[in-house]
Amino acid sequence: MSAILVTGGAGFIGSAVVRRLVAAGHHVVTLDKLTYSGTRASLRDVEQAANHRFVEGDIGDQAMVGALLREERIEGVMHLAAESHVDRSIDGPGVFIETNVLGTYRLLQAVLDYWRSLEGAQRDNFRFHHISTDEVFGDLPFDSGFFTEETPYAPSSPYSASKAASDHLVRAWHHTYGLPVVLSNCSNNYGPYHFPEKLIPLVILNALEGKPLPVYGKGENVRDWLFVEDHAAALEAVLTRGAVGESYNVGGRAERTNLQVVEAICDALDVRRPLPDGTPRRALVTFVTDRPGHDRRYAIDCAKIERELGWVPSVSFEEGLARTVDWYLDNEWWWGPLRARYAGERLGRG
Ligand code: NAD
Ligand code: DAU
Repeated sequence: MSAILVTGGAGFIGSAVVRRLVAAGHHVVTLDKLTYSGTRASLRDVEQAANHRFVEGDIGDQAMVGALLREERIEGVMHLAAESHVDRSIDGPGVFIETNVLGTYRLLQAVLDYWRSLEGAQRDNFRFHHISTDEVFGDLPFDSGFFTEETPYAPSSPYSASKAASDHLVRAWHHTYGLPVVLSNCSNNYGPYHFPEKLIPLVILNALEGKPLPVYGKGENVRDWLFVEDHAAALEAVLTRGAVGESYNVGGRAERTNLQVVEAICDALDVRRPLPDGTPRRALVTFVTDRPGHDRRYAIDCAKIERELGWVPSVSFEEGLARTVDWYLDNEWWWGPLRARYAGERLGRG
C-alpha cells in the first residue's frame, strides 16, 4: 500500500507503527488529536521524512476525515486512536465512550462513504484495520487457559467494554455494509515512548528517582508482555496480508506477574545506576490498594497469526526490558516534560 492513514499515530504504539511504515517507504498520514497521551515528540524520527504528514484532528470529525481520505487517496486505515488507560476509565468513563465508541463509529461512517466512492482494484484492495486489545476477553484464572480468536467477549472495565463495543461496530460495518476490515487483539505492550502512567515506564522512572513503586494488591496479577516493535510488525502483517473479516490475536508468549516485572526493573537499574546510598531498589516496592475489578491474568494464544501470516515475536522479555530501561535512561528529553506536565495528576493508583 502506498498511502496509509494511522489514527493515534502520536501515541505509544501508533508512533512505532508510523516509524516502521515510513522506514518501509509507505506514504503515511498520521491523524492525532494530541490528547494528554499523544505528543509530536514521539514522531521526532519521522519529522523530516518526505513520506510522512502529520495532521492534528479528531477521528470524530467526519467532514475533516472524509476530506483527508479523498485528498490523500488513502488505501488503508490503521485505527489506533483511543483512550487507553484502565485506571483513567475507572475514574472517568465518559471520554472512553466518546472516543472509543462514538469516535470509532464516526470514523467508520467517514471511511464507509469514502470506500463506496472507490472503484475497481482501489475498492477491492482497501482495508480498515482496527487495533484492539486482549482485555475484551476479560479475566483468566491464574493457572489455566489462553485467549483464542474464538474466546467469547467478557470485558471487565469501562476501557475494555468500550474497546469491545468498537470491535463489534467494526465487524458490523463489515457484515452489513461490506467494508473490508481486519482486526487484531494484542496483549500488553512495552518499549520506548510509553506514556509514564503505565506500569513499566512508571516503575522505571520512579525507581530511577528513588520513589515508591506502587504495586496493586499483592502483585500477583499476570500480563503477557510484547515489545512494541514486534507489535508494529504484526500490525503491518495483518494490514497487508490479513484475510478480510478476520481477527488475529497477538501476544508475546511472555507471561509475568506484576511483581516479577517490577523486580526485574529494579535489578536492571541497580546494575546501571545504583542509588547513591546503595539501597537495592526492591526495597522501594509499595503494595497499594488494588484496582477495582482487576483482571487476574491475560494470556494470548497467537497460533493463528503465526500459522497464517508467519509472524512471531522476535524480542524476548529480558532483551526488550533491557532495551526499554536503556531508552528511558537516554531519553529524558522525551519523558521529562511529560512527567513535569502531569505531576499534578495521579500517575498510577498509588
Ligand atoms: P496511547 O494512549 O499511547 O495513544 C493513543 C493516541 O490516540 C494518542 O496519541 C492520542 O492523542 C490519540 N487520540 C485519542 N483520542 C483521539 C481522537 N479523538 N482523535 C484522534 N486521536 C486521538 O495508546 P497506545 O497504548 O498507543 O494504544 C493504541 C491503541 O492500541 C489503542 O486503541 C489501544 O486500545 C490499543 N492497544 C494498546 C495496548 C497497550 O498495551 N498499550 C495493547 C493492545 C491494544
Ligand atoms: O492487555 C492490553 C492492555 O494493556 C491495553 O489494552 C491497555 O491499553 C494497556 O494500558 C494495558 O492495560 P493494563 O491495565 O494491563 O496496563 P497497566 O500498565 O496500567 O497495568 C499493568 C498491570 O500492572 C496491571 O495488572 C495493573 C498493574 N499496575 C499498574 C500500575 C499503573 C500496578 O500494579 N501498579 C501501577 O502503578
